[in-house]
Amino acid sequence: MKKGIILAGGSGTRLDPLTRVVCKQLLPVYDKPMIYYPLSVLMLGDIREILIISTPQDLPKFSELLGNGSQLGINIEYAVQDEPRGLAEALIIGEDFLQEESCCLILGDNIFHGKLDFFREALKENSGATIFAKEVRDPERFGVVEFDSQGKVLSIEEKPDSPKSPYAIPGLYIFDNSAPARAKSLNPSKRGELEIADLIASYFTDGSLRAKTLSRGVTWLDTGTPDSLLEAANYIGTVQKQNAFQVSCIEEIAYERGFIDAIALAALAEVHPNREYANYLGLKARN
Ligand code: DAU
Repeated sequence: MKKGIILAGGSGTRLDPLTRVVCKQLLPVYDKPMIYYPLSVLMLGDIREILIISTPQDLPKFSELLGNGSQLGINIEYAVQDEPRGLAEALIIGEDFLQEESCCLILGDNIFHGKLDFFREALKENSGATIFAKEVRDPERFGVVEFDSQGKVLSIEEKPDSPKSPYAIPGLYIFDNSAPARAKSLNPSKRGELEIADLIASYFTDGSLRAKTLSRGVTWLDTGTPDSLLEAANYIGTVQKQNAFQVSCIEEIAYERGFIDAIALAALAEVHPNREYANYLGLKARN
């Protein structure tokens, strides 16, 4: 799988007034802008062609932050979603970028930490769709997948009042090349959005949906509310302070995955105004 889409638009109303002038996916999660975390996930899956979708006001800020990605040995393109018409619209906006290839879609406010082997394994599949499932205490806040005792998917529901299972669907999805056409055939929901749950359900109806549960080795953090944003920041801060490594340091990941060489990493370290971060990158480049 070569291509990934990060959906980083929306209205961010649940975080107002934090999001009045800065969009949610650029807010800090401990010491990095939120979008670094989903971007890292794609890079750790060796996905190097990335489309970032955001609002007309916010897109230039993402481009200022990340440029065309060449400094990281990746290619980043940008596209506008002028109104928040739903997550599934990302596949329609991304159609030209995808050029009939399969893709991974990740939401710009989803953080994954831990062993990402589950993701790399799933990327090897190139037909149908793959979603993931994580047992949570508050499934009603998310898309929910219900399984039978054999692990077969029985239902997919978006934020149900009475969830049929404790398994939430994280904002990380793998779709084959039929996704743009499927998204175009969806009808807007009652709230006027092209729902990701309906796109997933279309694969389910065809018998081409896989759902994989995330093991305890993977932490999935949603950052949609002030509390979950604070918890995510505390989590990342704790992990970094207890270990001699950074979480979602995109320059380090680019180097570790072989997208850039030690000379390019050292050059990135040189220009970093934050000395601590620069020293960290410099150390990696010399190892
Ligand atoms: O975090 C995982 C959950 O994300 C899934 O379990 C749900 O099935 C999925 O619908 C989604 O739920 P949210 O309540 O988080 O959806 P929200 O409308 O907040 O949108 C998620 C992100 O996508 C958010 O950062 C804003 C952005 N977005 C949203 C919409 C509707 C867009 O960029 N464009 C949009 O049109």
